Amino acid sequence: MCGIVGAVANRDIIPTLIDGLKRLEYRGYDSAGLAVVDSHNELDLRRSVGRVASLEGICESVSGMTGVAHTRWATHGRPAENNAHPHTSSSQVAVVHNGIIENHNELRALQKEQGFPFSSETDTEVIVHQIDWHMQKGMGLLEAVKTTVKELDGAYGLGVVSKQEPDLLIAARSGSPLLIGLGDSENFIASDMSALIPVSQKYMVLEDGDIAKITSDSVEIFDQTGAAVEREVLISTLSDEETELGGFSHYMKKEIHEQTRAITETLEGRLGADSVLELPFGDSAREIFDKTKEIKIIACGTSYNAASVARYWFEEFGIKCDVEIASEYRYRKHVVNEGTLFVTISQSGETLDTMAALEMAKTLGYTNTLCICNVPESSLVRASDLTIFTHAGREIGVASTKAFTTQLVTLLMLAICLRRRRIGDGRTSDSMEAEIVQELRTLPQQIENALDLEDDIIAMSKHFADKHHTLFLGRGAHYPIAVEGALKLKEISYIHAEAYAAGELKHGPLALIDEDMPVVAVAPNDELLEKLKSNLEEVRARGGKLYVFADANSGLESDDETMVLKVAPVNNYIAPVIYTIPLQLLSYHVALLKGTDIDKPRNLAKSVTVE
Ligand code: M6R
Repeated sequence: MCGIVGAVANRDIIPTLIDGLKRLEYRGYDSAGLAVVDSHNELDLRRSVGRVASLEGICESVSGMTGVAHTRWATHGRPAENNAHPHTSSSQVAVVHNGIIENHNELRALQKEQGFPFSSETDTEVIVHQIDWHMQKGMGLLEAVKTTVKELDGAYGLGVVSKQEPDLLIAARSGSPLLIGLGDSENFIASDMSALIPVSQKYMVLEDGDIAKITSDSVEIFDQTGAAVEREVLISTLSDEETELGGFSHYMKKEIHEQTRAITETLEGRLGADSVLELPFGDSAREIFDKTKEIKIIACGTSYNAASVARYWFEEFGIKCDVEIASEYRYRKHVVNEGTLFVTISQSGETLDTMAALEMAKTLGYTNTLCICNVPESSLVRASDLTIFTHAGREIGVASTKAFTTQLVTLLMLAICLRRRRIGDGRTSDSMEAEIVQELRTLPQQIENALDLEDDIIAMSKHFADKHHTLFLGRGAHYPIAVEGALKLKEISYIHAEAYAAGELKHGPLALIDEDMPVVAVAPNDELLEKLKSNLEEVRARGGKLYVFADANSGLESDDETMVLKVAPVNNYIAPVIYTIPLQLLSYHVALLKGTDIDKPRNLAKSVTVE
């Protein structure tokens, strides 16, 4: 999704802007651009469609000490040079913008009457004309931005520069994340701290409504009432090590293989001898969990699939659990029962729908809010009562892998904490908890075993590369695992993949079965195995080709119509984590055969900060 970098310094900032944009490439984008105030006090604007490397190629002769840069992921207006940011007005002001301006049509009509020419189809262009308009009426840059944002409906993270005040960078935020990075006689803005790794470790997070006036040696922040405010200075723990490929061909492959370490780190400090600890959920976790009678979980995409698996655990443990997609939750009425804990799950912590759902939930009478997140600096973390981090490490591949499995592990720990209140005094663990805890301790090794299936999966992937459609089947907690497997395949290989609860086959999708529709199934050795086997027979009887990841003791064997890959026997509670691994590997290797852009699949963004 769109990325912002800006800088004001006493040196040429072009290398910093380009490097920052490259560091944001993983978020997904289709065009890039920058504008600096040059040594003649003129705005120099460069934009190009495609990769940041193309932009770099047209910036060789440019230099400047104040500027803004942007990677754009098209929302209003197709990917094209004229729609790329920054947008400028009268060659006086340049703006980069993340978010969406909902009243852009009204403002555009007004500005056309005022004589502003429009050169793009974007909603952003109205912002820069509005700032320019106020400056033409005599306002300074800060006042003009302050006045303009009051006239905007929608979401924005803004970076603004003007040749009239060449040593000034203005930042404004409402609904889209924006940070200020603090340097030594130079300061920066970015939508994501990873853009600033080489130049700044100290940073401040702008809150909604904040506007910042930034020079090379000062930062002043004003809140939405206009009052000067201080924001806490934080220290970033991000490092370059996390962003290196380290010998892997793709970030996705690296991240699949990092799951052993990611899960080890997610469990670290969270397990007692035979129990799950509660303090890692926050100082007030015990008190909040004591009040919790039921759970509502909201998330999007892969994070939603993790929530859907967890529902089976919560309800198995006697805790009512409702799971919903954030974009649906936001637009309907709710009946909230007393004692309901509102849980959000998000890798990035910046997904707009999830964030908006949380804000809405706070007005609806939930007992408390808990966020499961991978990014400490994120908006969702700051807005929640309790937070537990999935220590997955930075996830760069757009297709979520290690974030998903660490979310699962974290959700299982949460379910166990709440289960204690169902079985006793809420403080004492029992033999079942002790058994799950021991299984969690061995999980990293079991993941290693699952990763060892990779060679067989490479052979299997050849059966998919020329197909256009696939079906994924699972039952119980493995139905959402099938959904997640289908999501992975479609997003990186562009093969149409649908997932069904296997019992639903005969209610419709069986009509699709033929030899061109490979059917993938996950078959752990649980209480639904025999039912699943019957469902697989329904596929075989109609000439379907089956690819099954099955427990080694399931009794399922390969034959002409069926390829079975045997998975080492695993405890039922952690089986969903293990069965995820071969599905990730299958998607990766199919995509590799198809030659797609695996880490940055077409049309997708890593962090979805628009509605
Ligand atoms: O950062 P989040 O977990 O909130 O992101 C939610 C989805 O956008 C994300 O999981 C998406 O579905 C992934 N690309 C799937 O691999």
